Amino acid sequence: MSASRLVSLRAAALGNSYRPRITPLHVFKSGSTVIASRNVAPLARSANLPSNVSKRLLSDSTQPQATFQEINVTNDPFDEKSTQLAYRSALKSGNVVIKTNSKTGAPFWQFGSLYLRENCQCPKCIHPDTKQRIVDTFSLSPRVQPAEVQNKGANDIQVKWSDGHESTYSWKWLSAHRGNLKPAIKSKEVKPNRLPRPFKAYDPEKGNPYPEVAYEDVMSKDAAVLEWLEKIWVWGFCFVKGVPVNPESTKTLIERIAFIRHTHYGGFWDFTADLTYKDTAYTNELLGAHTDNTYFTDPARLQLFHLLSHTDGTGGESLLVDGFAAAKALSKDSPDFYNSLASSRHPWHASGNDDVCIQPSTTAPVLKVHPDTKAVYQVRWNNYDRAPKTSWHVSEQKDWYMAARAYNDILTKPSNEIRTQLQPGTALIFDNWRMLHGRSEFTGKRRMCGGYVNNDDFISRLRLLKFGRQTVLDNLGNTRGWQNRENPYSIY
Ligand SMILES: [Fe+2]
Ligand SMILES: [Zn+2]
Repeated sequence: MSASRLVSLRAAALGNSYRPRITPLHVFKSGSTVIASRNVAPLARSANLPSNVSKRLLSDSTQPQATFQEINVTNDPFDEKSTQLAYRSALKSGNVVIKTNSKTGAPFWQFGSLYLRENCQCPKCIHPDTKQRIVDTFSLSPRVQPAEVQNKGANDIQVKWSDGHESTYSWKWLSAHRGNLKPAIKSKEVKPNRLPRPFKAYDPEKGNPYPEVAYEDVMSKDAAVLEWLEKIWVWGFCFVKGVPVNPESTKTLIERIAFIRHTHYGGFWDFTADLTYKDTAYTNELLGAHTDNTYFTDPARLQLFHLLSHTDGTGGESLLVDGFAAAKALSKDSPDFYNSLASSRHPWHASGNDDVCIQPSTTAPVLKVHPDTKAVYQVRWNNYDRAPKTSWHVSEQKDWYMAARAYNDILTKPSNEIRTQLQPGTALIFDNWRMLHGRSEFTGKRRMCGGYVNNDDFISRLRLLKFGRQTVLDNLGNTRGWQNRENPYSIY
């Protein structure tokens, strides 16, 4: 087929405003056919779609911009001999549908447009060094649509979006991340309790004093360690005043709880913004509220920061947001959204340094429900480290993105933000299974130290200090009444 013939077909499909731009269309292989139509219905019928897909396409056929276009013939990475026919659609439901003629794979790959847009792989959307998502998912329009789809080279397709952004996806990526053609069965949905595990929320609007303890007390009395750990468990965070301004004392302070957890960032950290580790935390950029370690099967429970110095600059205000309080508000406003965040499990990753690509052993939800108490007890919220979820239907994508947007709206409300300027001599520790943290951008040089503590070691120390060793031993394995919160030993 000649290029001019292709252009005229496209012009017919897109109307008078179309200006012929033939460059990318030259790469059509001979033997392929171009289908372009103002109306999807004949295409959906002729394309031999699975009935649920064709029904969806047919039902969307009233959209005037609904056009299909074959964009390329290329090789399926998993089936070298077969050719792929790719179509794009600009449908009301916002799906990008790619038809394949693979004999072995799925006849259709389906992608929600928002999903595809937020998982753009360009350097503006994925940080080239850290491999973290840097596009703000929630500032994208939920109604973003592909405006133009073209082939690019032999193995990529390029999408121009309604918001002006351009994305390129490889066939390998598309094949690995295609959605399911059917939604998962509803009965699998998790129904959590309406409230997270017992907690008290600090209300930033009331401006009460922060939970705090004195370094001297913690270092000299076990009773003060208990007070410290209880404050962290109940309030989600605590300041320690009067810490000597040096890394050694800070390290000893953490070790009053338990040994420091080693990760690929090392054990005890003492760092400046030099991108030693390829993670946004090691820059001076703004860091939106997030939890750490979403990519570990067992995220660290506690995190302590101590600012040792900040010279020749300003900024770097610290931010804390209570993920439980936000979840409680979400469950009140929209129980369906709360359920969606508790049931939809996602992949997470840390892949910045060349020798690391950490992913949890199981996909994990944003709100993790305790199997015994059914209460939400762990929050994973890190848009930078969330990997693109596969094998979900576009309707599930829509539900989840709406739920995540609603949760994000609560988390980013200024009235829910605890903002403080860290000072040398005051350490901040918080429950990373509950509290989100972040910081504003800064200038100058900051030296920060701190470390992580594991969940099990924190709870062990708290339990022993609270009840005494004999009582703890007498109640080993006692989970009676956990569901009703009647068991005083249910600390988790
Ligand atoms: Fe962090
Ligand atoms: Zn991009």
